[in-house]
Amino acid sequence: MLSGKARIAGVMGWPVGHSRSPRLHGYWLERYRIDGAYIPLPVSPASLGQALAALPVLGFAGVNLTLPHKEAALKYVDRVEDVAARIGAVNTVIVQPDGSLVGTNTDAFGFIENLKTGAPAWKAAAGPAVVFGAGGAARAIGVALLEVGVPELRFVNRTRNRADALAASLGVRCRVIAWSDRESAIADVNLLVNTTSLGMAGQPALALDLALLPPGALVNDIVYAPLETALLLAARQRGNPVVDGLGMLLHQGRPGFKAWFGIDPEVTEGLRQALVEDLRP
Ligand code: ATR
Repeated sequence: MLSGKARIAGVMGWPVGHSRSPRLHGYWLERYRIDGAYIPLPVSPASLGQALAALPVLGFAGVNLTLPHKEAALKYVDRVEDVAARIGAVNTVIVQPDGSLVGTNTDAFGFIENLKTGAPAWKAAAGPAVVFGAGGAARAIGVALLEVGVPELRFVNRTRNRADALAASLGVRCRVIAWSDRESAIADVNLLVNTTSLGMAGQPALALDLALLPPGALVNDIVYAPLETALLLAARQRGNPVVDGLGMLLHQGRPGFKAWFGIDPEVTEGLRQALVEDLRP
């Protein structure tokens, strides 16, 4: 039961029904017996400014933002944290005590925490990383990898000019490798990440021969439905360490939960199972 002092947060999206965030935050609210709620908020693009401005009026602690609001929100918050500015998107809004709105982005944090917990032996500085894709997820992951010190970051994308633009904006440690050269692009990396939608249920697999991938290279897919994509299966079968994509989703929720409800929540096997059940078609 909620008291009159309950802390309220939620997720704004359009549509918002597909968002897993209510399940994620709902699990933690229950586990920590917090007097609070986290609700889906269907907000159309035309209403985003008004909806965000209403948060302090309604006493909300903050919100997550999902499609299509992450970029547009940059202009509606009072302060944008550096990491969100670099990623060019806000996924978490925190209402300050004075009613102003701070926008941040927790995807880079979620990505790195997932690698740290899933593959503790991986060292960013030990070699180049290759990222497949050049969309919003690739950008957040690129920012994260540069921040933790990868010596070289390679982007491989079907549409070359999107990778060129991303690499140019992220700086000198970035390179672009043609889609047709993708199998040689992985020859000397110590991390391979798929950020494309290839491998998702209903999509074709990422067609990539791993023959040249070093045996110790970590492979991560941000696709989490299915949990084990064809890429992760192939990597695991040849003995490479692998980390699935669900952990990024879970860990990216932590900073918002902590800011709104006061506890840095734990990512546990029980939580993973709850989300896996939720993802079952
Ligand atoms: P997000 O913001 O979630 O990262 P996005 O901007 O739609 O999503 O990016 C999707 C990524 O998947 C892109 O890198 C896209 O490649 P293009 O830039 O060439 O479109 C990639 N992608 C999607 N379908 C693909 C396919 N059939 N083959 C290769 N890449 C594909």
